[in-house]
Amino acid sequence: MSESNQLKILVVDDEENMRFFLKEALASQGYEVHLACDGEMAISMIGKDAYACVLMDVRMPKTDGLQVLDHILSNHPEVPVIMMTAYGSKEIAMEAIRMGAYDYFTKPFDINEMRIVVKRAVEKQKLEDEIKELRSELGSRFSFDGIIGQSHEMKKVFELIAKIMKTDVTVIVYGESGTGKELVSNLIHHNSLRKDRPFVKINCAAIPENLLESELFGYEKGAFTGAEQRKIGKFEQAHSGTILLDEIGDMSLMTQAKVLRVIEEREFERLGGNDSIHVDIRIIAATNHDLPKAVKEKKFREDLYFRLNVMPIYLPPLRARKGDLPLLIDHFIERNNKKLDKEIRGVSRSAISALLSYDWPGNVRELENIIQRAMLLAPADMITMECLPTNISDKTISTEYDRDFFDGSLQEIVENIASGAEKQLIIDALDATDWSRTRTAELLKICRKSLHNKMKKYGLFEQNQT
Ligand SMILES: Nc1ncnc2c1ncn2[C@@H]1O[C@H](COP(=O)(O)OP(=O)(O)OP(=O)(O)O)[C@@H](O)[C@H]1O
Ligand SMILES: [Mg+2]
Repeated sequence: MSESNQLKILVVDDEENMRFFLKEALASQGYEVHLACDGEMAISMIGKDAYACVLMDVRMPKTDGLQVLDHILSNHPEVPVIMMTAYGSKEIAMEAIRMGAYDYFTKPFDINEMRIVVKRAVEKQKLEDEIKELRSELGSRFSFDGIIGQSHEMKKVFELIAKIMKTDVTVIVYGESGTGKELVSNLIHHNSLRKDRPFVKINCAAIPENLLESELFGYEKGAFTGAEQRKIGKFEQAHSGTILLDEIGDMSLMTQAKVLRVIEEREFERLGGNDSIHVDIRIIAATNHDLPKAVKEKKFREDLYFRLNVMPIYLPPLRARKGDLPLLIDHFIERNNKKLDKEIRGVSRSAISALLSYDWPGNVRELENIIQRAMLLAPADMITMECLPTNISDKTISTEYDRDFFDGSLQEIVENIASGAEKQLIIDALDATDWSRTRTAELLKICRKSLHNKMKKYGLFEQNQT
């Protein structure tokens, strides 16, 4: 049998009988028990092995228990320490607790009670390890150059971007307004082989139809009234670099035909000019339109669609990846603390629950605006329900039928309602137990692992959880 699976406990006592008594009592619970007969030995042992808990007598010759406790708290703060004191020395015990001991016992003690306290201490440490692991995972893996996301959908997006980043392939980014299309386009260019070359962006929806072509292709002097000198267009400016054709779904059919030629031949003429200009450009397009639908409706050229749709990236709406909300909220709080010179620490539980229940039609941009506004309104260092606009703070998870309610099959509708109710129940149970996962799992009669999985599914990780 491999002993490495067993949790290790260190018992420190100068009395031999006590050491052996505790060894027996705890080994029978499945722990691997190590023994130290004085403080110095304990300090040396604790540096060599990872202990799930330390049980220690206060009064020992040479280095006493409080000194060892101080050493453990400074060097191994994650290890819970339970102190044992002689009858009549309650003050020393209280001092140990003030210093940071997990608990204490006065000798003689009830061994069953001791076993329960040890078990609780060990579980607390395991939970803290889990949280630490999760936090470091969140910190290091779920952000790609400032694009935040840990959901399955966003991981798929990150993987795809990583694959195409170093190529010259044409990319089209689809997504509703505010989902991060521009952010993703920036990331692709800034990580590409063309990163030191120009990155030229043009928003096709923001420029009036008659001006768009002269912006894109430029013009020669005298091409039209008012064309007093030659103008270099965006395609030419982007030569050797990347061009972002943002909101390409809003481009007129006539301009689409000319853009198609640039994509196919990398060639065009300035307005009013005869010379063909050749450019070496990488093309990224973005749109919040459903292009296949626009093709069917004859609003978008099919040939251009096929030229662009070589490597589509679909950015999911925020409502489809609410698990990313806590991370995004943390990210925006951190960013805006610097910008607004604030020291907001987090979001209250009820406010988190309201933010999770909202549908986010304006996606990540709307979230950032709401967080920024809430930070300005926050009376202290937390964002509370009162800082949220009423259309969000009024939101609770319910089976209320909204306009999209009857989209989907009966089974899908029922699943949606069930998920909403399950999430609310878990939030209520967490609130009732002060976010203790052990007690919440007991209350809901599920195991901690399955509670953990459900919390992950619903994005219920609290930043201030202990
Ligand atoms: N995954 C994300 N992580 C961090 N910030 C994000 C993320 N997605 C979007 N944002 C932020 O949200 C805002 C909107 O993003 P962006 O402008 O890229 O969206 P868009 O899809 O181009 O929107 P629109 O269609 O309205 O132009 C920006 O401030 C951006 O930094
Ligand atoms: Mg945009």
